[in-house]
Amino acid sequence: MKEILITGGAGYIGAATAQYFLKKKFKVYVVDNLSTGKNLLKDKNYLFIKSDFSNKKIAQLLIDKKIKNVIHLAASIDNNESVLRPNKYYINNYLKVKKFIKNCEKAKIKYFIFSSSAAVYGKTNCFKPINEKFKSKPITPYGKSKLMSEKLLKNTKFKTIILRYFNVAGPTFENLYRQNFNGYKHLLKKLSDLRFSKNIDYFKINGNDYNTYDGTCVRDFIHVQDIAKINYKAIYLSSKILKKNKFKIFNCGTSIEKSVLEIVKKFSVLSKLKFKIKFVKRRKGDTDFLLSDNKLLKNSFDIKLLGIDKIIKDLVK
Ligand SMILES: NC(=O)c1ccc[n+]([C@@H]2O[C@H](COP(=O)([O-])OP(=O)(O)OC[C@H]3O[C@@H](n4cnc5c(N)ncnc54)[C@H](O)[C@@H]3O)[C@@H](O)[C@H]2O)c1
Repeated sequence: MKEILITGGAGYIGAATAQYFLKKKFKVYVVDNLSTGKNLLKDKNYLFIKSDFSNKKIAQLLIDKKIKNVIHLAASIDNNESVLRPNKYYINNYLKVKKFIKNCEKAKIKYFIFSSSAAVYGKTNCFKPINEKFKSKPITPYGKSKLMSEKLLKNTKFKTIILRYFNVAGPTFENLYRQNFNGYKHLLKKLSDLRFSKNIDYFKINGNDYNTYDGTCVRDFIHVQDIAKINYKAIYLSSKILKKNKFKIFNCGTSIEKSVLEIVKKFSVLSKLKFKIKFVKRRKGDTDFLLSDNKLLKNSFDIKLLGIDKIIKDLVK
C-alpha cells in the first residue's frame, strides 16, 4: 500500500484530496491543526494527526512511516484578511513552510506538491488567459507568501510540482464539505448559503464598473473534485511530469470565463431562488479579469475538467 501525507487535510480542498486518495487505495496521513478545518473523514486507511504541519513530530512521522510523497495544503487562505494581518500570513504560509521543507529533506521525501494560488499574479491588467510564464506580481500578503514559498521550493533535495489554483468551488465527494468552514466567503459560498436564508431581499455584487463585457469581474472557477484529481495525478504522474525537471508550475483553472453577474443569474435559475441584484462598490484589490491558460495542465495531466455549470448544479443539489 502507498502512503501520502496531506497537510491541511481537514480543510475544504484537503478533505476532497484525501477522499480521492482513499478511493485510489492509498494510506492517507492527514496533519491539520484544525484552526479552520474539521476532521470528518472516516476510513480504515485514514490517519488523522492534530498538529501544526511544521512540528517536529511530523518530521518524525515521515521518517517512521517511510512516507515519500507530500501534498502541502495547510495555509491561511483569506486574501482580504492577509491585508489586515500580514504577519499571520508571513508566519503560517512562509516561515513554517521553510521549516517544513527542511523536515521533508531530512526525511528524504521524493515528491512535494504545493498548493499555490492565482493570487501570485496580482492585478494582471490582462484580458486574455494567462499562462505560467506571466509575470507574478502579487499585491496581497497572501499572494506574496505563496510566491515566496514557491521560490523556496526551487532549490530543495526533493522534486516539486506547484499547482496554482484559480477559484476553487463546488461540494467535495459525497457532499462531505460544501465549501470552506472558515469565515472566508467567496461568491459561490455566499450564493449557496442563500438557500438557507428565510427572506432574501437582494444579493450584493461588488462593482459593476469593471472593464469587462457586463461590468462585473470575470473569473475562472474549477471544481474542487477536479483539484482533488489533479493532486492525485500530480503524485501518480510525478516521475513522468518531472522526468527532466526538478520543479514545475501548473495553472489549475478551466480556461472558461464567467462573469460574477452571469454566475449569480445562473444560480438563480438553477436554484429557483428569486432575488434582486444590488450593485455595491468595488472591493479593494479585485482584478477585472482573471483567466487561466491551462494548456500545460491539460497536456501533462490528461484530465477532462468539469465546468462552472456542473459546479452550480452540484451546489444546488
Ligand atoms: N479555496 C480556494 O479557492 C483556493 C484557491 C487558491 C489556492 N488555495 C490554496 O489551497 C489550500 C487549501 O485551501 P482550502 O480552501 O482547503 O482552505 P481551508 O481553510 O479549508 O483549509 C486549510 C486547512 O489547513 C489547516 N491549517 C492552517 N494552518 C495550519 C498549520 N499551521 N498547521 C496545520 N494545519 C493548518 C486548517 O485548519 C484547514 O483545515 C491553501 O493552501 C490555499 O492557499 C485555495
